[in-house]
Amino acid sequence: MSNTNTNFSAFFTNFKSVFREEKVFSANYIPNHLWHREEEMESLVNYFRSIITEPIASSRKVVLYGPVGTGKTVVSRAFGTDLIKHLKAKHKPGDPVFRFFHVNCRKTKTPHLILTTILRQLVPGFPLRGYSVDELLRMFSLLLHEQNLVSLLVLDEIDYLLPDNRTDFLYALSRIEEGNPKLRDDHFSNLPGNQNESRFNLLCCTRDKNFRYHLDSSTISSLGRNFITFPPYTRNQLFDIVNSRAELGLCQKSFDDELIESIAGLAEEYGDARFAIELLWRAAKLADREKKEQITVEHVRKAVVSVLPIEKSIVDDLSTHQKLLLLSIAKLLINNQPFVTSPEVKNSYVSICEEAGVHPRRQTQVWAYLKDLARLGLIQQEVENRHKNGRSEGRVTNIRVRDIPVEEIIQTLSHLIEDSS
Ligand SMILES: Nc1ncnc2c1ncn2[C@@H]1O[C@H](COP(=O)(O)OP(=O)(O)OP(=O)(O)O)[C@@H](O)[C@H]1O
Ligand SMILES: [Mg+2]
Repeated sequence: MSNTNTNFSAFFTNFKSVFREEKVFSANYIPNHLWHREEEMESLVNYFRSIITEPIASSRKVVLYGPVGTGKTVVSRAFGTDLIKHLKAKHKPGDPVFRFFHVNCRKTKTPHLILTTILRQLVPGFPLRGYSVDELLRMFSLLLHEQNLVSLLVLDEIDYLLPDNRTDFLYALSRIEEGNPKLRDDHFSNLPGNQNESRFNLLCCTRDKNFRYHLDSSTISSLGRNFITFPPYTRNQLFDIVNSRAELGLCQKSFDDELIESIAGLAEEYGDARFAIELLWRAAKLADREKKEQITVEHVRKAVVSVLPIEKSIVDDLSTHQKLLLLSIAKLLINNQPFVTSPEVKNSYVSICEEAGVHPRRQTQVWAYLKDLARLGLIQQEVENRHKNGRSEGRVTNIRVRDIPVEEIIQTLSHLIEDSS
């Protein structure tokens, strides 16, 4: 009989992962602290404060707008979770019970499915088929009254609902308790409680700046006025977000400020926290795969390739001197440096030209090539004003490689030097 305790067990026990808690990198993880969203969270609380103070007196509809990875989902989910806790703690007999529904419209694509998903949470085993959207809306409204509930529905990634569906559905939802004749036909004329009660609140998350212009005028009047904008994160904000995720999920020794700084630098252009966190996670995975205890900037560069695929043909199409320049940058960065300065690049370029047996181009031409490489998205340049003891030491340009691991650049371009020797 074979001994099953051989090959893998040795691997498992000897393996020292850079991860402490990998789950903090998962999509539905909600961190305890949300960075740099204080204003947006305050607006959210202000709009929905009546859920706490006068739960059934008025109904609120709010839209969160922001580009990819700006925290709309995590903020809305954290808001719902905290609201549940808060209202549970102060609940007294007879008070309405708060129910929070978070529906992702990319996964739950039709109004019918959205409503059955909600109803199944209120009535276990509620049938998936057999009712029209209008009927489901009425049942939802009725259940809110019958079960003495006050609700907040988040329609996340609402852009994925088909435009026609979206307009009609939002119209119906925005009127759910405002005497819509469709909702208040004979069957519902005997609803318990006051007809002016409002037990339904709505929060829509969208990436579409023009969201409100796709609504019809009556829906705009109830939904389109309350907008909270989530701007893209700045580099420093991304640093804080990624750094705190690293502290939660990784071994202390596996990362340092320089690594997090390089991730924030790469993600800055998009202002996207998801991209930044995913870069860190992938870089950490690569470090594990290579059995390294430290995550390096090179791991991050390799990770970028899998997150953002880049066209190798861009490098193939460069002129010889542009390639030599890129190679000289890559050679400087191979020792896990996050960036190099322009004078360093110039010196390295001159010596690489010598190795390749070609005359280096003049400085102005080299700067023009650097601009070309930046325009093609291969490098990123930043001007830094340097100070020492309070005195200005002038400006220097820092250069980073984007999207391609420097190892790969060196492998692809080294023939330019080797062929000539
Ligand atoms: N302020 C923040 N503090 C901590 N983590 C954050 C913050 N903002 C976003 N994140 C994290 O970044 C990732 C992306 O955030 P989220 O999913 O909320 O973005 P989104 O705006 O909903 O993006 P999309 O438009 O693609 O749906 C998540 O892992 C989230 O936890
Ligand atoms: Mg989202």
